[in-house]
Amino acid sequence: MKITEIVQTALITATIIILEMIPPLPLGFIPVPIVMQNLGIMLAAVILGPKKGTLAIFGFLLLALIGFPVLSGGQAGPAFFAGPTGGYLLGWLLTPLMIGYGLSRSFINRRWSRLSIIWFAGVLLVDVIGSVWLWLVSPISLIGSLVSNLAFIPADTLKAVAVYLVAERMRIWNKETIRL
Ligand code: BTN
Repeated sequence: MKITEIVQTALITATIIILEMIPPLPLGFIPVPIVMQNLGIMLAAVILGPKKGTLAIFGFLLLALIGFPVLSGGQAGPAFFAGPTGGYLLGWLLTPLMIGYGLSRSFINRRWSRLSIIWFAGVLLVDVIGSVWLWLVSPISLIGSLVSNLAFIPADTLKAVAVYLVAERMRIWNKETIRL
């Protein structure tokens, strides 16, 4: 990995941390808030590609695991990985690989395909994994968890569109970025 790539990866990790500083919005009916970090996760996947994107998110999660207050509301520590939001954290780790895989398919040249791939992997996949995890670790039913998670879809969709527009603006749809 070149020094510029290391710096780029570290900058994206820093961006995810900065987005954490935007106060989370509690929903009340589930123990999972609306956050802005997932915009940074999608950005990492699209700008850095599958390998460096996974590295940037792994770095972020490692900081959280060892106690740096980088999770929503300045939280951290191993307990949060087993708690109600653990599934989303797992989903975040898978996002760059899934987006990278999707974008590397032949139909990526269509704009709607790119946006759909970002949405499916960065929003739907994460919210579904998060819902199932929430069901497993809390008294909430699976249906209740899935239905509650629908509350995240509008804002998460806007975040996916924002990431897509940034990517279009930066013209980063090249083989280097999406190579698996
Ligand atoms: C954390 O504690 O930092 C993790 C919070 C996870 C929140 C999830 S990410 C997907 C969905 N969209 C949101 O805005 N919130 C949830």
